[in-house]
Order: sequence, then structure tokens, then C-alpha cells
Amino acid sequence: MARVLSCIQPTGGVHLGNLLGALQPWVDVQSADSFHGIVDLHALTVPQDPAELREATLELVRILLAIGLDPDFCTLFVQSHVSEHAELAWLMQCTAGYGELGRMTQFKDKSAKSESFSAALFTYPALMAADILLYDADQVPVGEDQRQHLELTRDLAIRFNSRYGEDTFVVPEPVIGTVAARVMDLQNPTNKMSKSADGDNGLIFVLDDLKRVEKKLKRAVTDNEATVRFAPDTQPGVANLLSILSVATGEGPDKLAERYDQYGQLKVDTAEAVVAMLEPIQTRYRELEADPGYVRDVLDAGAEKARAVASVTLARAKENIGLLPRA
Ligand code: AMP
Ligand code: TRP
Repeated sequence: MARVLSCIQPTGGVHLGNLLGALQPWVDVQSADSFHGIVDLHALTVPQDPAELREATLELVRILLAIGLDPDFCTLFVQSHVSEHAELAWLMQCTAGYGELGRMTQFKDKSAKSESFSAALFTYPALMAADILLYDADQVPVGEDQRQHLELTRDLAIRFNSRYGEDTFVVPEPVIGTVAARVMDLQNPTNKMSKSADGDNGLIFVLDDLKRVEKKLKRAVTDNEATVRFAPDTQPGVANLLSILSVATGEGPDKLAERYDQYGQLKVDTAEAVVAMLEPIQTRYRELEADPGYVRDVLDAGAEKARAVASVTLARAKENIGLLPRA
């Protein structure tokens, strides 16, 4: 069985795009040999409010548990609980070239947008490589935007292995955006649903009041064509509603389109399906919120399971690179 590793940053305000595009797929691929990390160290590459970061981390953990990630089965952990990540990241920084890191398009984009940024924004891909290599991961599901970081991880693993020992790291395969839904903004359906949108009328947050969810969907922007077809290029708003309805009901979007001739009914049904999907998640979320001890225990156990694997890989890498083992 392939070992899968998936990670997400705790940025707070988890929306329908995050849920359907990133988190639900974790639940679908989970196994006794899958590792799922909330990478809080990555979030620190840009300034964070400490209380908000802590809450965003817990929010993600609760949402993942609420949607069915089973911590007795797979391994769910917080990156900063497993100090091996930061330690292997150093070895990865020593393996990566300055020029190589400078070619990362995410770094180029983000650094161009701000006047000052942390050194960690630059070295971030070395930490990401460490996240992956620590677990001997075979497969790493990521979005298209992370492809270059995955390629770099492979290059670093191959380079380290050829310098210091072929047995050090498993060279991972990216699993890029397979069938994960791409959810668009309800007000600007040619843009991805994203926290960076102006205003939140186009976004549905997993924890939104359900009345608001209904309102936002009923006010979704469509078009003047007055025909329901699944045509993302020419009718992006309608296609977005159909894809959301499709994920919520399990029926294909083209098939669903045949059933409607009015936008109004499509919106009503999509709203109803999304509310029905979110309601049990929110209920379970509130229960978990009321039981912080349980969530702590899950994370403690997850950190132990993660560390059991990560510490072996780190020890191997340290020994192979020539660091003196403790007596
Ligand atoms: P972000 O919130 O942009 O950091 O994204 C976190 C994760 O959610 C990444 O795996 C993204 O690919 C996924 N994601 C973010 N926005 C969307 C969206 N609108 N549709 C599908 N997936 C998304
Ligand atoms: N860089 C990824 C993102 O921004 C998050 C991430 C960190 C990650 N470490 C990882 C993803 C390891 C997969 C594997 O989305």
C-alpha cells in the first residue's frame, strides 16, 4: 500500500473550496498508513496573531474530525508537535541551492508583493521537503500550485541520496489535483473561492450560520442565458452551482443540468444540499469544541505516531550526512 502524506496550513476561515478541494479528499484517501499534518510552522512565514494561529489550528483539527478523518485509523498531527520537521528542514536547507529556491514561483510572487518578508518565505520549500521526506511518503496529493515544490522535494531527495546514501529518503510522487473539486467564488465565478476575495458574499465558510449559507447561494451570480447547462467556460456561475450540487449529491453535473430549466430552482436545491451537507459537520464541530480534552488527546496520540516514524528517518539522515550520533 502506498504511504500518503497530506498537509495544509492553518489559516483560519475554512471555506467550501478548502473543504471540497483539500480536506474531503483527505478523508477519502485515509488509511492505516496515511499521515495528515496541520503545518503551523509554514504559517509563520508571514506574521500571525498568536491567538488566531492557535484557534485556526484547532479549527482545522475539529473540522477534519467532524468530516470523518478517523484518528484511530490514520495519523493526524500538528507539525510543530514533531520537532523533527524543523530539524530535517535545516539539512534540507543545506542541500538546496540558493538559486534553486529563488526560482520558486510562489516565492517570486509573494516576495514581489511585499516590501519586507521573512527569510523563511524563501526557505519554506526546504521545510516542505522535510515534511514529506520524514514520512517516507510515496504519494503526496497537492494542488497544481504546489507542483514546483514537489519537484524540488524530489530533486533534494535524489541529491541527498546520491551524496550520502541511497537508503536515506524515499523519492515521493506528486498526485496533482486528480478529481478534487475547484469551487469558484459565488459573486465572481471566474475566480477561485478564496479568502483573499473582497468581502465574503462569494464565500461559504464551513462554519457559516446556515441561514447565511442559504442566502449566499440564493444570491449567487449567474448569467442571462436562461438555460441550465454545465458549461464552465461560458456559464461559470451556473456551472459552479452545478459542481457544488454535484459534490453534495454525488450525481454528475451534466446529469443534474438536464433536470433544471430555471436558475431559481437550481439555487434553491443547491442551497438545500449544501445546508444538508454542512449541518452534521457543524453539529459534530460544536461537540468537539465542547470537548477540548478529547481533541488534545487526539493530537497527543497523533504526535506520538508521527514522531515514531519521523525520528527514525531523521536519525538516518543525520547519521548519513556525518553528524556524530550521541553515545
Ligand atoms: P488556501 O486556503 O488557498 O491556502 O488553500 C488550502 C487548500 O485548499 C489547498 O490545497 C487548495 O488547493 C485548496 N483550495 C483552496 N481554495 C480552493 C477552491 N476554491 N477550490 C478547491 N480547492 C481549493
Ligand atoms: N505548501 C503547502 C501549501 O501551501 C502546504 C504544505 C506544507 C504541504 N508542507 C507540505 C503540502 C507537505 C503537502 C506536503 O498548500
